[in-house]
Amino acid sequence: MIYLDHAATSWPKAPGVAEAVAQALISPVGNVGRSAHPMALAAARILYDCRLALQEIVHTSAPEKTVFTRNATEALNIAILGSLAPEGRVLTTAVEHNAVARPLHHLMSNGVHVDTCACDVYGIADAADFDRRLGTGSYDLVVFTAANNLTGAVNPIRSLVESCIRHHVPFVIDAAQAMGEMDIPRFGEGAQGALCFSLHKGLLGPSGVGVMGLYGDFSPRPLIYGGTGSRSDSVEQPDFLPDRYESGTSAIAVIAGAKAALDHMAIHGQAINHERKRLADILWDDLSRIGQLRMLGPREGRSPIVSVTVREGSIDRLAQALFAKQVAVRSGFHCAPLAHRHLGTEVHGGAIRFSVGHTNTEAELQMVSDTIREVCDGR
Ligand SMILES: Cc1ncc(COP(=O)(O)O)c(C=O)c1O
Repeated sequence: MIYLDHAATSWPKAPGVAEAVAQALISPVGNVGRSAHPMALAAARILYDCRLALQEIVHTSAPEKTVFTRNATEALNIAILGSLAPEGRVLTTAVEHNAVARPLHHLMSNGVHVDTCACDVYGIADAADFDRRLGTGSYDLVVFTAANNLTGAVNPIRSLVESCIRHHVPFVIDAAQAMGEMDIPRFGEGAQGALCFSLHKGLLGPSGVGVMGLYGDFSPRPLIYGGTGSRSDSVEQPDFLPDRYESGTSAIAVIAGAKAALDHMAIHGQAINHERKRLADILWDDLSRIGQLRMLGPREGRSPIVSVTVREGSIDRLAQALFAKQVAVRSGFHCAPLAHRHLGTEVHGGAIRFSVGHTNTEAELQMVSDTIREVCDGR
């Protein structure tokens, strides 16, 4: 099989991830914060070490401001649902993933107003329109994706966050496709908001753990209430971090694996990124020469995603040919109906997304573009 679905989840995982998960399971590791015995402390150490490694890449002001969740979706739901009042007003983009679009859609039925800023053909936010709208003082929250999961197109995070700071509006950033693929800038003084992502995509970690990095005083209501090991004599949810959001037993072994992935990326991340981008550009250039295809991302300024649709008809024959040759891609709508609507791909059955990993080879990509060319040529 040729695996070109790294934007869904990475494979293979970083070296050391499986061993770290196994080690945490076979070593004397208890539960976090439930006691002060050595096994409980060993579990607490695993979470703390991972938080420290995460702080290095998300630049929160303290390790406890990197809150563990199950995945990016859960982090986004806490940040969005937990920070808007029924009559709240949100500014977002035209191409958000369902992890953002569905919570917003749900809130709309509760009276929340959702506005979309001007976006270019790939859904990149127009920073001037974004700033102008925030300047009206009408918004309670901004939500935008760092890197789009259909086109790979990257938003100007730094300038969008600067607008939020200037106009005192909290932000929620969906960094699911960005982490591991690009550096997250240090946000300036006055930044209030959350950066949400999973560990299992560009960071090459295991599935089962996500992060909500918190900036400034941004403090959404928790979605889950329960035991934290702290303040056990009270029925009040602790309001300190990370316990405010981390009720119930954490995925301790998975978090040990996540730490191994972060360690690997700290050393090899740049080279891995360079290779992913190099390979994705080779595929992009090759597919862009096939006249029947329409490229869906910008050539520059995108994560290692190459999405195409057909100019006429449906993508089905292409998807079937790839499936028959055991090329694992994602075809269809990518949990991104808004992005497909924005790009006008619905009439073709969506798109085929190739998402490249650093372990792919040029020979694999050649085989993929040969397959596509054969179908397009009717061979
Ligand atoms: C842009 C974007 N946001 C959010 C998510 C949700 O991530 P997860 O499934 O890890 O919660 C994805 C997953 O593909 C994504 O691509």
